[in-house]
Amino acid sequence: MLFACGSPPPPRPRPPPPVPVVSAAPPPRDPCEPLDGKPVVPLAAAYDGVLAKARCQAEVSVIMQGVAAALGVDCSYCHVPQDFAAPTPNKAVANWMAKELVPSLQKRAGGSITCADCHAEGGRGRAKLLGAPRSRQRAVEWMTTRLVERFDSAAGKPLYCKTCHAETLGKPGFREHIILGELFAADAAPPRGTP
Ligand code: HEC
Ligand code: HEC
Ligand code: HEC
Repeated sequence: MLFACGSPPPPRPRPPPPVPVVSAAPPPRDPCEPLDGKPVVPLAAAYDGVLAKARCQAEVSVIMQGVAAALGVDCSYCHVPQDFAAPTPNKAVANWMAKELVPSLQKRAGGSITCADCHAEGGRGRAKLLGAPRSRQRAVEWMTTRLVERFDSAAGKPLYCKTCHAETLGKPGFREHIILGELFAADAAPPRGTP
């Protein structure tokens, strides 16, 4: 195995900050300001995931274009044609990323976390950042160099492989499925033997 886990990764030079595909800066024009006297179209529904920050329908489009660019995909990756409100598996994952994963982490370099922080490298978005098909070696490399070295938990604690995977890689009990599950489940339950 290339990388040992369970102990903090050895210090290595910080990689340069990634080029954000979705910039944290507000767009040049507020999409929710009336334009040319046309009324602002209100939101069609209330959202708590990827669209939690949307204030009007025009902003839904701005956010969606940013998400698609950050992942390097088209709208159809997450939406069925003609029905943007219809549920799909990738929509559920996208909302889980926004509601569960992103708020549990903080960037060591500071600043708010965008989808592009994990999904884009060198400005190119990738939905399947662990390889398509997923490669275990690529997964271990990415987790080691791109995740635990650049992010801490939202509480400011360093991340270990165990923090999310319940066990170190190679041990029985290593959780392979994290997406759509409960994050930091190992932290929630006190380790055996603690009073
Ligand atoms: C990575 C997945 C993903 C991609 C790519 C994506 N969307 Fe979305 N979209 C979502 C999610 C998640 C929601 C919010 C659903 C919710 O919370 O109910 C959403 C909601 C929407 C809605 C509101 C639908 C409603 O509830 O009425 C519209 C409109 C929309 N997207 C348009 C687009 C367009 C246009 C694109 C391409 C530029 C796009 N989306 C790309 C995931 C995606
Ligand atoms: C802290 C890192 C991180 C952040 C931030 C992040 N993701 Fe992910 N995301 C992942 C990992 C890891 C995977 C698994 C990739 C794979 O299977 O190759 C993933 C997978 C996905 C997938 C499933 C892709 C597929 O085809 O299976 C979607 C959709 C997705 N993320 C959307 C988002 C959206 C939208 C955001 C921003 C709200 C986001 N992610 C932010 C780490 C992240
Ligand atoms: C913040 C949570 C988090 C931490 C910390 C973390 N991972 Fe992951 N890891 C993920 C997510 C999310 C996925 C995608 C899992 C899925 O598809 O459900 C993943 C997937 C993997 C996979 C692929 C699993 C498979 O068989 O498909 C491996 C291997 C892996 N991680 C190794 C590691 C190693 C080694 C470390 C420590 C250096 C680590 N991870 C730290 C969140 C994390």
